[in-house]
Amino acid sequence: MSDIIELPSYKEQSDSVRARFADIYQRPIKLEVKDVSKSFNTAKGQIDVLSPISFNVHRREFISVIGPSGCGKSTLIRMLAGLETVSGGQFLLDGKEASGPGADRGMVFQGYTLFPWLTVKKNVMFGLEVNGHSGTAVEQEAMQWIELVGLGHAAESYPSQLSGGMKQRVAIARALANQPQILFMDEPFGALDPHTRSQMQSHLLQIWHNVDVTIMFVTHDLDEAIYLSDRILVLKANPGEIQEFIEVPVPRPRTPEQMLSTEFLATKQRLEELIHPKEHTSTQDLPIVRMTSVNDNVE
Ligand SMILES: Nc1ncnc2c1ncn2[C@@H]1O[C@H](COP(=O)(O)OP(=O)(O)OP(=O)(O)O)[C@@H](O)[C@H]1O
Ligand SMILES: [Mg+2]
Repeated sequence: MSDIIELPSYKEQSDSVRARFADIYQRPIKLEVKDVSKSFNTAKGQIDVLSPISFNVHRREFISVIGPSGCGKSTLIRMLAGLETVSGGQFLLDGKEASGPGADRGMVFQGYTLFPWLTVKKNVMFGLEVNGHSGTAVEQEAMQWIELVGLGHAAESYPSQLSGGMKQRVAIARALANQPQILFMDEPFGALDPHTRSQMQSHLLQIWHNVDVTIMFVTHDLDEAIYLSDRILVLKANPGEIQEFIEVPVPRPRTPEQMLSTEFLATKQRLEELIHPKEHTSTQDLPIVRMTSVNDNVE
């Protein structure tokens, strides 16, 4: 593998990429994370999961968070979504300190979190009712979001009658129905087959294009992070801290064909180098225990 190459700043990218980042950086700051850290008290003592980290997200940015397993990605977005307390620091949403969950923040998880006994429409209506919406408008409102994710025809179906991709679209509709300022997504497409996954990525870009929402998206998939994001927050583990915040130099609108472009491949190589440094990739390091005493020569 070659020596680590620095990706040039957006200022040295093509005109369209430069213009896109100049536009993003002049937008108001939607989320300001200031020295947020997290420790857990366990039976074995305190473990420091996240060192104090700070970064800003601008309005309608699409940010991905990647990093090795256990580096604190889920912990970070769970804190920002108000599902977990912070151990130190604070974060501001539209300039105001936020704590606890709120309708201004939505969350979509990897597992299907729909109620199996409710139809698609009732699942989305439930999300609205929990957040204080009521009356006949709720049904209409729910239907608008269901149409937006392309599931108008399945509004009366139950989750068990839907494919994995369809279920995640309902989860997205339910989260968006409360019109959150920021949507947190934790590996939402991790359980989907590759084809459905790439359809969902394009679909999510369309939704993001049509809805005024800022997105923070956790993934393990480098192609997915590059394809979707404006910037990629790369974390390292033990304790979790920011390794790099990459400005993705691939122009928008994005198409799957761009995955073979020079900019895309350079970004992917950079991410590979950050996340899988050479010394950790050897399978010889893995402890493999022999589980058979049969002596067939299989190699
Ligand atoms: N409630 C908890 N109590 C103790 N330790 C925890 C708790 N929640 C998370 N951790 C620890 O914090 C670390 C970060 O966990 P987290 O789930 O945020 O990682 P992650 O980056 O999302 O990993 P993955 O990529 O596998 O989803 C892990 O070492 C985990 O064991
Ligand atoms: Mg996680």
